[in-house]
Amino acid sequence: MGGSTEYTLMVPNTPPAPSPSVAASSETAQDRFARDGTILEARDLTKGFRTGDRDVEVLRGISLKVRRGEFVAVMGPSGSGKSTLLQLLGGLDRPTSGEVILDGEVVSRLGDREATRLRREKTGFVFQFFNLIPLLDVYENVALPFTIAGEDPRRGETAARIKDVLEMVGLAGRERSRPDQLSAGEQQRVALARALAGSPALLLADEPTGNLDYATGGEILDQLWRSCDQRGQTIVLVTHDARAAAHADRVLVLGDGKIRDEIQLGRRTDRDARPLITRLAHLGL
Ligand SMILES: Nc1ncnc2c1ncn2[C@@H]1O[C@H](COP(=O)(O)OP(=O)(O)OP(=O)(O)O)[C@@H](O)[C@H]1O
Ligand SMILES: [Mg+2]
Repeated sequence: MGGSTEYTLMVPNTPPAPSPSVAASSETAQDRFARDGTILEARDLTKGFRTGDRDVEVLRGISLKVRRGEFVAVMGPSGSGKSTLLQLLGGLDRPTSGEVILDGEVVSRLGDREATRLRREKTGFVFQFFNLIPLLDVYENVALPFTIAGEDPRRGETAARIKDVLEMVGLAGRERSRPDQLSAGEQQRVALARALAGSPALLLADEPTGNLDYATGGEILDQLWRSCDQRGQTIVLVTHDARAAAHADRVLVLGDGKIRDEIQLGRRTDRDARPLITRLAHLGL
């Protein structure tokens, strides 16, 4: 008791604590993002395409926030702009106007080289068609991002990480198989392992089960869900399938270029699709 620190605190006229505005000015964008748990934000995104002599405005003002560790699904009819939105969120394409902020960095203000760096460091993509390299085996396909970055994927932490993700997706022991020796579900698991191997802040998946049968698709969705629930992976999943979207904590429904509805499901171990299907039916979807 009575140490010098406490005495100082009792002295009148102690210099005032820094005002919030001063504190805020020394706070980085990353800090601000970390503070409210946001990892991804879109602000008033629009995207138009010119085809022939026609301008088509696909996205007409999309704003959203995704929290770290959250699993968000994006639904909507075919042609509603789901894939377009995912490409903007992942920095694969640029919006006509508006901003995407990923982990505190404004993607649309970065030059091409910086945008590529951010995408490599922070995002992993899984698509409907698995995009594996046929001549490379499972290990080499998963290791590809590291190989491209000039790292030796057979050594040290990188090798440990690849082993870890291969175990996670249930492909330990299949390292030497080539894609044509795998089932469709196994191929998608390789693509998922590749996307997760770099520990991306954000995993973006566009209809990852669209090319799989019901049971195999269910396994992939369960793996996505577990990566979120057990490892805190942030996921944005695009799908037209309510059963897939029911794995998410929250569902955004696109229509007419805007977010038409937002459905909170919460984290649920059963991933029961019925509440979502009922809600979508009310929306006429
Ligand atoms: N590069 C492009 N050039 C011109 N138009 C495009 C381009 N990309 C997308 N579009 C148009 O934007 C609209 C939305 O496409 P998008 O692929 O985002 O829809 P989607 O919701 O993912 O549909 P689906 O469920 O069928 O995959 C479509 O009308 C499409 O033709
Ligand atoms: Mg699409």
